[in-house]
Amino acid sequence: MIQLENNVFHLGNECYSCLLRLDPNGPVQQLHFGEPVCAEDASAFLYNPGLGWGSSVLLNSDDTGSCMDTMPLAWSGSGRGDYRESPLEVGFATDFKYVSHRIHSGTVPMTSGLPQAQGGEETLELVLEQPGLRLRMYFTLFETAMTRRAVLENTGDAPITLRKLMSFMTDLPGSYEITTFDGGWCAEMRRHTLPVLDSRVVNESTTGASSNRHNPGFLLHEPGAGETHGRVYGFNLVYSGNFDITADCDYYETTRVNIGINPDGFTWHLDPGEEFQTPEAVLVYTDKGIGEMSRIFHRLYLNNLVRGRYKTEKRPLLINSWEAAYFDFDTDKLVSFAERAKEVGIEMLVMDDGWFGVRNSDNCSLGDWYVNEDKLPGGLGVLIDRINALGLKFGIWYEPEMISPDSDLYRAHPDWCIHVPNRDKSIARQQYVIDMSRQDVRDNIFGQMYDVLSKYKIDYVKWDFNRNITEAGSALLSAPRGEEFFHRFVLGTYDLMNRLTEAFPDILLENCSGGGGRFDPGMLYYSPQIWASDNTDALERIAIQFGTSMCYPASTMGAHVSMSRRTGFATKGNVAMWGTFGYELDPNRLSEKDVELVKEQVKEYHRTYDLIHYGDLYRVTCPWENSYRSAWEFVAPDKSEMLFTSVTLRYYHCMKYIVRFKGLDPEKTYLLEGTDKRYSGAFLMNAGLNLSKYPHSTGESFTLHFIAE
Ligand code: DGJ
Repeated sequence: MIQLENNVFHLGNECYSCLLRLDPNGPVQQLHFGEPVCAEDASAFLYNPGLGWGSSVLLNSDDTGSCMDTMPLAWSGSGRGDYRESPLEVGFATDFKYVSHRIHSGTVPMTSGLPQAQGGEETLELVLEQPGLRLRMYFTLFETAMTRRAVLENTGDAPITLRKLMSFMTDLPGSYEITTFDGGWCAEMRRHTLPVLDSRVVNESTTGASSNRHNPGFLLHEPGAGETHGRVYGFNLVYSGNFDITADCDYYETTRVNIGINPDGFTWHLDPGEEFQTPEAVLVYTDKGIGEMSRIFHRLYLNNLVRGRYKTEKRPLLINSWEAAYFDFDTDKLVSFAERAKEVGIEMLVMDDGWFGVRNSDNCSLGDWYVNEDKLPGGLGVLIDRINALGLKFGIWYEPEMISPDSDLYRAHPDWCIHVPNRDKSIARQQYVIDMSRQDVRDNIFGQMYDVLSKYKIDYVKWDFNRNITEAGSALLSAPRGEEFFHRFVLGTYDLMNRLTEAFPDILLENCSGGGGRFDPGMLYYSPQIWASDNTDALERIAIQFGTSMCYPASTMGAHVSMSRRTGFATKGNVAMWGTFGYELDPNRLSEKDVELVKEQVKEYHRTYDLIHYGDLYRVTCPWENSYRSAWEFVAPDKSEMLFTSVTLRYYHCMKYIVRFKGLDPEKTYLLEGTDKRYSGAFLMNAGLNLSKYPHSTGESFTLHFIAE
């Protein structure tokens, strides 16, 4: 619902309210964003004393409330007395004033080729101007969340250089803690919390992708907020390139947050009449704790971001060749995987890296997307026919944004990799990044992919991206456009993904970036699942999955059972089940005992698919709170069943283990499957069960399935 009363917009629903006041001096104030309030409450927010005294600059010298530096704002300029961080830099002072607004039903589509949440209920468009510039801010309301973005137009008669334009800025009364998710290859999404005090906290990516170093999803919360309690703001940027998130708390205890494309490595040239659209940011608020914030994100992404056939259709259970064979495979070996996989109930074979050019290691052939007939005699048709004849579907690997120096494509077009003239090109994993900002390059890669994907029956594509960007430049971009490269690269990638998903709507696309190096909402717009990490050790995966689950639902989180060390097969299965689930191993090397376990896991996968993919996640014991064990639950939306999983990370002699379950219906009676024990939901949640007798050696795990009667 969006209402305007007495110059105050009230945006909100049962979960949150946002009050935006049109200040008579021009700026748009954000009186409130948080718990639901009424439009009439706006006047109460204004009882706050004006804080502009001493050296403060006032918009109206008679009114100490007219100080930009102390006002809670929805947007600010620069050079007008607000000395906090500005969301915009154009090389001159800016002082935007409200001029008009529109209320649109639904979402206002973006025209810049950026991904965007679909199916919003209503959108408020606020138009602000200052000489030479028009700013449009969009606030789109969803059932339990909101999105924001900005568009800046050059209305003057001279070109301007945009150095920074954030998707949104917000001022929140009070001081908070910030929780971010950071890491590196094989160690993604480690949770870190620190107080936001007077100095600016920065969470950013500069690698060219959203990166495994920091994730664009983060939280601001009151100190002490936990899974089940506390006021929490969740933010995320629908963008797969360099991002920047900053937060700081001023002397008057207002916390300012800015989110958008990283200004480090960004400029955009705007000729008169041109505009720049920022990516969209997602905002979530709840006073019910971090767990509820995650469930709001999950529902939004499942309902409004993930698209295509596999948004709702059951995805085939796959086995991937990477950890089973790396580059060392041929048709017969892959068929032997498929034969064994078929016996245990797996539904699709994915041929990972190594099928094209002359690629037998990672030192060549990226860009030569035609089959290596030495490995696959007779070509893909022969292989796929044999796989399909077994009743399995077939998937294939690509890394479309890369080029090997040792490739036919590079030899023909050495200027197609990104580079800066007269500078050495840095190599990583023996490859360069291809120039996705170029239409001709994208056409070539799309053409090569189209030839393969249209000719053969291919049900799945894994789209990988294995290195960071260096020497960010294009042979076709010269001043003043040269510094636009990073964003143009991202737009190019989105364009190619768009073409691919439109041409092949039935293909299941899984994104990947050396594991979870590009796990962000922008990618989820194109692919319903993303490989979460190259770390397939079940115990190490737990922290990665807990971190990933903060914003991203289980159905988006690529997770496989592999041959990695330490844990038994049952635990590997229990951990991978919290995700898309699949296998990444040589099935012919499984012991008979493990083969039987795989068969059971496959049955369990089918039985719990809906519960895990569409159910509500409750993090019961988090690795950042307890170093001995981790536990989580999936609860059906109608609370008719619940699956509890517990994994012991470290054995502790005689450790008592009482669990109070979460998210059940207190009125319902639940049967613990495999027993004749029945409990009320109220008992399970309030008294809990003593689980001390369940397996609890290091690496052991168990599940409990409760079904309502
Ligand atoms: C990195 C991915 O994360 C792996 O799963 C695998 O596809 C390799 N790349 C292949 O090179």
